[in-house]
Amino acid sequence: MKKTKESIKKNLMLVDVVYEVVDARIPISSQNPDIDDIIGEKPRIKILNKSDLADSRLNEEWQEYFNKKGIPSVLVDAVHNRGLREIYELTYELTEEKRKRLLTKGIKNRPIRVMIIGIPNVGKSTLINSLSKRKGAKVGNKPGVTKGNQWVKIKGDMELLDTPGILWPKFEDKNVGLNLALTGAIKDEILDIDTLAVKLVEKLNSISKDYLENRYGIEVEGKTPHDIVIEIGKKRGAIVSGGEVDFTRVSNIIIDEFRRGIIGRITLERPY
Ligand code: G4P
Repeated sequence: MKKTKESIKKNLMLVDVVYEVVDARIPISSQNPDIDDIIGEKPRIKILNKSDLADSRLNEEWQEYFNKKGIPSVLVDAVHNRGLREIYELTYELTEEKRKRLLTKGIKNRPIRVMIIGIPNVGKSTLINSLSKRKGAKVGNKPGVTKGNQWVKIKGDMELLDTPGILWPKFEDKNVGLNLALTGAIKDEILDIDTLAVKLVEKLNSISKDYLENRYGIEVEGKTPHDIVIEIGKKRGAIVSGGEVDFTRVSNIIIDEFRRGIIGRITLERPY
């Protein structure tokens, strides 16, 4: 971890602005615990990516929350290239003074350089590809920065480091682990899928009973999360011979539909 931090800090010295990517559904759980220390005074833009999967009202509340903390943020959907213009505009704004300073020193045409950092699966490679308008291969997922960095032109005089700084999440926090598992950031390692589905049902109902009721046409009032999973299984015909519900099969259905946004645009964390 120390080595990773050092190598990312080295790369940070090369750039004017850093794009910190998080998952808009879990903006706190998907950030690195040491992020403020790592970024230091470097101008930063908080990229709330996957905003297409998150609740639109809460997207705005999160933006407001970060803006109030003095961290400008942008709502992005890297798959569909949404929010890129706002990223460019903010980057210009944040580097205006520096560019003016360079001009007074007679330095013209020095590119604005940026890099992307964030924990795995928040959409760093997708964002690199959409900013650089390429259909590139997926970059590695090991913390750190791959050797042999290259700069890619993304807009006018803006250049992006083509490999992201890959950070680690807050491992030791159980709720963070659960949120990462639910959003698919850690591939079903933490909990088995059955338990994950029960936890998801519990979480969704604590936010709004409407999600599961509307999606699966069931009543959730007064039922345990476990019973709700069984009921969804019956509705979906996830039945094994003998008429019992195939708990793992229905668990997979619920988790998959949540991750793909089919149950709704749902944000699992709220500001404050
Ligand atoms: P990373 O480099 O930070 O590790 O993330 P990456 O770009 O590989 O993206 C992880 C998954 O998230 C990919 O799905 C990608 O398509 C999806 N993704 C990235 N940005 C967005 C976004 O703004 N909106 C939505 N809806 N999805 C986004 P995947 O290829 O299916 O991978 P996986 O889910 O099977 O891991």
